[in-house]
Amino acid sequence: MLKNSATSYGWVSIALHWIMALLIFFLFGLGLYMVELTYYDAWYKGSLDLHKSLGLVTLFTLIFRVFWRFINPSPADLPGPRWEKLSAHYMHIGLYALLLILMVSGYLISTADGRAIAVFELISVPALPWGIDNQEDIVGELHEVLAWLLISMVAVHALAAIKHQFINKDNGLGRILKSH
Ligand code: HEM
Ligand code: HEM
Repeated sequence: MLKNSATSYGWVSIALHWIMALLIFFLFGLGLYMVELTYYDAWYKGSLDLHKSLGLVTLFTLIFRVFWRFINPSPADLPGPRWEKLSAHYMHIGLYALLLILMVSGYLISTADGRAIAVFELISVPALPWGIDNQEDIVGELHEVLAWLLISMVAVHALAAIKHQFINKDNGLGRILKSH
């Protein structure tokens, strides 16, 4: 099944979830690695260009994912107390919102000098016509903090999925791995 149903995620949602998860883990690692490089390292510019290009690809994917979510039913909540259902719901919305702010902050660091971002030399995403003083530094700090916050929330999210699968035994993890 490509689309979601009342009980199951469809393959499109499943593929989007895992492609984005891989991209995000990779971007996080690459981000931490590349800021340690100096101008004299061979991969200094290449790593930054890759981070920006993949970051924007992730942003485009997120926009499609949210659109897809709106035109699809959400599978029914997993069984559990009300607080657990609400936490899962707000965690998912929080993850989407944080991803958006993180990616917009990345865009604002990269375009602080007024230059466009080339996404793999294919598309050029222009800079905004205005900015703030010290934009690169201020938003850079924010980007770092948000990236750590995201990874911490993902850790809680993944632990919750594992708890559902192995303690509650309600196929909580299984339903984002396979459509039926
Ligand atoms: C989910 C998406 C993203 C994640 C997880 C992520 C993660 C990170 C991390 C961990 C760092 C290192 C921060 C530090 O230690 O100072 C970083 C730096 C950076 N990121 Fe991202 N990033 C993402 C998206 C983007 C996007 C979309 C752009 C731009 C289009 C971008 C541009 C940058 C830039 C320019 C830096 C260097 C900042 C500096 O020199 O302080 N990032 N990113
Ligand atoms: C960067 C990494 C990740 C992000 C940003 C992320 C984000 C999300 C979001 C936003 C949803 C809600 C989907 C919807 O709109 O209905 C979701 C669902 C889910 N995710 Fe993740 N996720 C990540 C990694 C993981 C990992 C590592 C696991 C498991 C080990 C996992 C397990 C699940 C499960 C089981 C669901 C379905 C929840 C349900 O049935 O209510 N995710 N994820």
